[in-house]
Amino acid sequence: MSDIIETYKKNTRRSAKADERVKRSIIGGNSRGAAVWQPHTLTVERGEGSQVFDADGREYTDLINNFTSLVHGHAYPPIVEAATRQIAQGTAWTANNHGQAELAETLIERIPATESVRFTNSGTEAGMLALQIARAITGRLKILMSRFGYHGSLMEFEIGTFGGFLDFHGADTTHTATYNDADSFEQVLAEHGSEIAAVFVEPVMGAGGVVRGETEFLERVGKAANEAGALFVVDEVITYRLSTGGEQMNRGIEPDLTMLGKLIGGGFPVGAVGGRREYMKIFDPTEPKSFHSGTFVGNPVTMAAGVVSTRELTQERIDTMAGLCDRLDVSLHSSARKLGLPFSTNREGSMLNVFFQHEAPTQGPLRNDEKEITLFYLAALNRGLLMATRGMIALSTVMDEARIDDVAERAAAAMADLAAELG
Ligand SMILES: Cc1ncc(COP(=O)(O)O)c(C=O)c1O
Repeated sequence: MSDIIETYKKNTRRSAKADERVKRSIIGGNSRGAAVWQPHTLTVERGEGSQVFDADGREYTDLINNFTSLVHGHAYPPIVEAATRQIAQGTAWTANNHGQAELAETLIERIPATESVRFTNSGTEAGMLALQIARAITGRLKILMSRFGYHGSLMEFEIGTFGGFLDFHGADTTHTATYNDADSFEQVLAEHGSEIAAVFVEPVMGAGGVVRGETEFLERVGKAANEAGALFVVDEVITYRLSTGGEQMNRGIEPDLTMLGKLIGGGFPVGAVGGRREYMKIFDPTEPKSFHSGTFVGNPVTMAAGVVSTRELTQERIDTMAGLCDRLDVSLHSSARKLGLPFSTNREGSMLNVFFQHEAPTQGPLRNDEKEITLFYLAALNRGLLMATRGMIALSTVMDEARIDDVAERAAAAMADLAAELG
């Protein structure tokens, strides 16, 4: 039996009990597929700053920050203050609130291609809304996206990540092409362009392994989409943390629509679509062409927290996080080298994905380190580090050099545990 797995089980007995209980009512033990692992998922009871605390009272540095959304860490005091003030004044009503305008204005000011915004409850819903707009504008049904791309858990999008589900999801509505291969997108558009409403692309694939989309690739895909009469949708749900104007500003690209989510809700459920006024106009209630609503869309608590989270993500903080992530990246490579482990990373700003193989993938999660990453993930938990099961890391603004050096030491110990176990 694996020492790493045995240690994890010993460390997390109360989480094991909680897992047994939840599995009786929720098959798999969590409604959230991306937060499940074996032998049992951790139950976390509290988060503060860069740290979380589990049901057994153990402390972890949170290196994934709810998949990039807690860009200021847990219980960030200015967000707690704004959200609790709003909660005390009521959490939702069937009318407008000031926070919605404030967050919309902030996003429009920051993201050049965004002239008007609509909010949703999640990034998945942002994808649904972007698709709705593209269908209404073009009168077409289908989409084109990257194989291994992730735009949320909507049937039309699932195909990219979970190819095996293709037979009964999305097959009639979704074309795929190869990430970082503009020819492959152009070819699909040449053949099927007249039926494609929108081309979706992540400027950096998050779920796909923090894979940077080459700028020329993004430019060519955008151009080919527009030439085919389709809308070019850039999904910045994760990458908005890479600059105050999103990754599109770093690359100088101007999509027709931008999907947002995660950090713009300050830790509360959120999504948004931004775009040119001519597209967003379909929702103008004085001459409606389409309808979009939701009971909790633009709710005052999310908006209050989101305004603080977004405004406090300054370029200076973005640059500091990127520097810290680079420091961590260098340390991780050095530790792996000393242990003789095959190792590579994809890093983009404050995000990183580790791979226990010589080459990091460039077109999606094409990896052959399933055993190593699974064991390293648990070894890292044993050493007090929480990341994504696939080895993704996203830092927060409340981390400093001392914290990163502590993380690097713990990661080195986890790698040594892995090396020992692999023999
Ligand atoms: C690039 C991207 N788009 C969309 C989504 C979906 O967002 P949500 O999980 O809020 O529905 C995600 C979630 O991880 C994402 O990474």
